[in-house]
Amino acid sequence: MENNRPFWTSKYSFIITTIGSAVGLGNIWRFPYIMGQYGGAIFLAVYILIISTICFIPLMNELYIGKTTKKECVGAYESINKNFKYLDALNPITGVLIASFYFIVGGWIINYIFKSLVNSNINDWGQYFSAFIQAPVYPCILTLLFISICIFFTAKGLKNGIERANKLFMPLLAVILIFLVIVSLNLPNAQKGLEYMFKPDFSKLNFHMVLAALGQAFFTLSIGMGALLTYGSYIKEDKSLVKSVYTIILSDTAFALLAGIMIFPAVFSFNMEPNSGAGLVFVTLPKIFSNIPYGNLIAFSFFILLFSAALTSGISIIEGPCATLIERFKITRIRASIILFFIISFIAIPTTLSFSVLGDLKIFGKTLFDFLDFTTSNIMLPVNTLFLCLISGWYLKIKGGDIIRNKIGVFLFNVGLKFIVPIALVCLIYMGLK
Ligand code: TRP
Repeated sequence: MENNRPFWTSKYSFIITTIGSAVGLGNIWRFPYIMGQYGGAIFLAVYILIISTICFIPLMNELYIGKTTKKECVGAYESINKNFKYLDALNPITGVLIASFYFIVGGWIINYIFKSLVNSNINDWGQYFSAFIQAPVYPCILTLLFISICIFFTAKGLKNGIERANKLFMPLLAVILIFLVIVSLNLPNAQKGLEYMFKPDFSKLNFHMVLAALGQAFFTLSIGMGALLTYGSYIKEDKSLVKSVYTIILSDTAFALLAGIMIFPAVFSFNMEPNSGAGLVFVTLPKIFSNIPYGNLIAFSFFILLFSAALTSGISIIEGPCATLIERFKITRIRASIILFFIISFIAIPTTLSFSVLGDLKIFGKTLFDFLDFTTSNIMLPVNTLFLCLISGWYLKIKGGDIIRNKIGVFLFNVGLKFIVPIALVCLIYMGLK
């Protein structure tokens, strides 16, 4: 089976696909609203510090384990130590659960793309959004549609599906983002938004915010569910990954920053609230689009942008569990994709309904959607990363030359794997549970 594994067709394919995984709803939807909630510039400063230092370690670690073992998650853990095999069944399970709520938002985006194509005179976008997600049938159909699109690319394989989608949608995403940044910066009072983003207010600095920044950084880099490990396992040549890892971190941060520069000037220009939470993209922005010239065109571009970001990340979320099914159960990619379609739909449909008919079904006081979002982002992702760092740090014993050529770098990397990142993760899990 191992000889049948696919490989990236080029280094460019690997980098653009990994950036495609990283740049997603986390950058364009979650980052701006979390930054809004934690006070703007100061959050950004802490975030940049964290993403460029601590995050290097688990990101490199996941890619490296994939690259050296050339196996999907479960097999990779097993080849480090037999006892870890079951521990790592957690990774593909996390993937399926993340997919089940991430793809619902993908469905919402499709709806907003359709909406921007027709001239709808909606005055109250807040009301529109709640009525839309509370309708039982339509959002389910859209969720299924989004799942099908992602599965389609997965089923087509690494070269013809996954790479192709990323090579098409990532450049499109970049071009639309730059276009929208220019539009936003030309709105009246745009500089107020920039001040909000770049003038830090140090009084807002606190520990909770640092952990929020850490959680956001992990999520946006796709760390913690074996997606990167699987992508790493498709690397053929034995070259150092240091440059690639920094390219990924830098690009991901650039996309998040540009998303902020696109959103905040517009929000301030129209005297809206920057801290309106998850509704920022689905309520606040559509309100703004209805009030600017060529609003429909701009709304259309924006939601295509969001769709491209969600799609390339969605594909990476599926690839981890898909590779596990293919290699563990020795089945074809097509069959694995069909099985995943059914499993993900089976969880995603009731989750979509948690905004309507299943709204009263509560798990630990949370609706199904909130429960899945909470358990995966706050608990499962950090727990998976914790295991992976400890296993590499204490069992794999990464030597100089494996990853980083200079001695101090290797020393810091190992200390990071054994102590720094695990401590940070334990704090994150603790805060998440509180
Ligand atoms: N990083 C993506 C985003 O920012 C989401 C994502 C894709 C992800 N694959 C992942 C998150 C794996 C955690 C783990 O939207």
